[in-house]
Amino acid sequence: TVSEQFLQELPKCEHHLHLEGTLEPDLLFPLAKRNNVTLPDTFPQTVEELQQKYTQFKDLQDFLNYYYIGTNVLIQEQDFYDLAMEYFKKVSKQGLVHAELFYDPQSHTERGISLDTVTAGFNRACIDAQQQFGISTRLIMCLLRHTTVPECLDLVNSAKALIQDGTIHGIGLDSAEKPFPPELFKDCYSLAKSFNPNLQLTAHAGEEGPATYVSNALDHLNVTRIDHGINSTQDVELLKRLANDRTMLSVCPLSNVKLQVIDKVGNLPLQQLVDNNVPFSLNSDDPAYFGGYILDNYLQVNREFPQWDYNTWIQIAKNAVLGSWITEKRQDEI
Ligand code: HPA
Ligand code: ZN
Repeated sequence: TVSEQFLQELPKCEHHLHLEGTLEPDLLFPLAKRNNVTLPDTFPQTVEELQQKYTQFKDLQDFLNYYYIGTNVLIQEQDFYDLAMEYFKKVSKQGLVHAELFYDPQSHTERGISLDTVTAGFNRACIDAQQQFGISTRLIMCLLRHTTVPECLDLVNSAKALIQDGTIHGIGLDSAEKPFPPELFKDCYSLAKSFNPNLQLTAHAGEEGPATYVSNALDHLNVTRIDHGINSTQDVELLKRLANDRTMLSVCPLSNVKLQVIDKVGNLPLQQLVDNNVPFSLNSDDPAYFGGYILDNYLQVNREFPQWDYNTWIQIAKNAVLGSWITEKRQDEI
């Protein structure tokens, strides 16, 4: 192992963080009150009861059911700003220097809240995070794969100006993975890319879904990064491809345990990724739900991969910098 102080101070980049997944119970209830939002009768009614529920989820869908109810309390531009600022405040104390942040506009537009309101609140927090904490940021707009392709095309079209001016730096694909293979969203990705050749592309694949979802995301969506991607280890040829192309996997250790994708962090195939020279970063996914922020993920991996020395950790941190969608100047700064 390495010292916890070393991991605390190590400059860290996060590439897999859903802003809506930073909604802590102690913000959820006050926001529900502030916005007069009635939560379903079946939803826990106190912070304690909700935290109790978050100790374990059956699977990805069980978590998503709670996650989408949580999003209902976000209404005003200020709510989105407050949510993101709470996240930045926490991780600024954990050695985070760069964050690439997912958000799910469709979970808000379906409730009549505009893409511009959501994006403006999150983007204003990003500007303040740079100013107040020196954290650089990128926003990644996700398509919800449980919705329809025409709905996703509508979203991409409505985001045209935000994609063109770079406010939206990347496109992602999330929500229930298994019955929705990435190739379904081929036209959505190519449309988005046609708006701005500098747009970056990533997709969740290989979390609950098989390695073929990872290959298909590379082949059909032209992504340059894979979110989760741990099931890539089912296919050695795919591992070679990821290593050769320097395609980074954004791995989320505590998330994988809470959603019962794996039994314990020590069972993640991280040593196999290291041995095959596949770049990966460590991330928190939905930290309010999964019991830990970025540093907590680093610390748990350190405990369960005690064979890793300082050099291994420095290489992981470097790979995270190199896999970030930032300028060479910013890479050198970090
Ligand atoms: N996987 C899929 N969809 C999600 C996740 C995730 O880990 N977090 C929020 N939406
Ligand atoms: Zn995710």
